[in-house]
Amino acid sequence: MRRARKIAVVNPKGGCGKTTIATSLAAWLSYESDVALIDLDAQQSASDWHGLRLPDNPGIELIPDRRWPPVVSTHCDYLIIDSPAAINERELLRLLNYCDKIIVPLLPSPIDMRSGWRYLEQLFRLRKVSRSQCEIGLLANRVKSWTIVYRELIGFIDQYRAPFVGHLRESVNYIRAMEAGLGVAELPYYQCRQDWSEWQPLVDWVKD
Ligand SMILES: Nc1ncnc2c1ncn2[C@@H]1O[C@H](COP(=O)(O)OP(=O)(O)OP(=O)(O)O)[C@@H](O)[C@H]1O
Ligand SMILES: [Mg+2]
Repeated sequence: MRRARKIAVVNPKGGCGKTTIATSLAAWLSYESDVALIDLDAQQSASDWHGLRLPDNPGIELIPDRRWPPVVSTHCDYLIIDSPAAINERELLRLLNYCDKIIVPLLPSPIDMRSGWRYLEQLFRLRKVSRSQCEIGLLANRVKSWTIVYRELIGFIDQYRAPFVGHLRESVNYIRAMEAGLGVAELPYYQCRQDWSEWQPLVDWVKD
């Protein structure tokens, strides 16, 4: 049996887009693969999103409970994990040892970059001490590409040897997709052309 690839979206900073990215990624991959979505957050926002999905959309197995390690009943190609804010060191270590890849969304804001700096230092230290093979990819989210603070974020990301897996613009499409139980790839092309092209490098990295 094929082994499921485990991908978590993690950053202890609240509101940086973990659930938005985890749900859209699960939806994107569900068109070509069997996908399970693991909701580790007590807020259960990913589970709420899953509850809004219509039968017309490809099925995604939801694992809403926070048991560790997660119990997946059917075979899956991908396990996508939405993690809570304020995750502690023990939980982070568990994810590093469990996952193949971790996506770290980062917002272009000085306050997020400061806390992101501390978090990334911790993440890379834990990966080293645990000798985890987990790959870490940094993703700029809610980007306005013309702003100075976006350039500052790119400079910040450049300091790390982790791959920069892309940027997602600030777009109301993400809010629309969330409230409809859809991924951004399931909204009409004319509306999301730019978002689809921004997602391609991220999806390529996940599938690599
Ligand atoms: N690229 C984007 N463009 C516009 N809005 C976005 C984008 N990404 C996320 N958002 C919005 O930002 C808010 C926070 O996003 P989300 O809930 O995904 O973050 P989170 O990291 O999961 O938060 P928490 O830490 O509370 O779980 C939501 O209102 C979401 O719709
Ligand atoms: Mg969330």
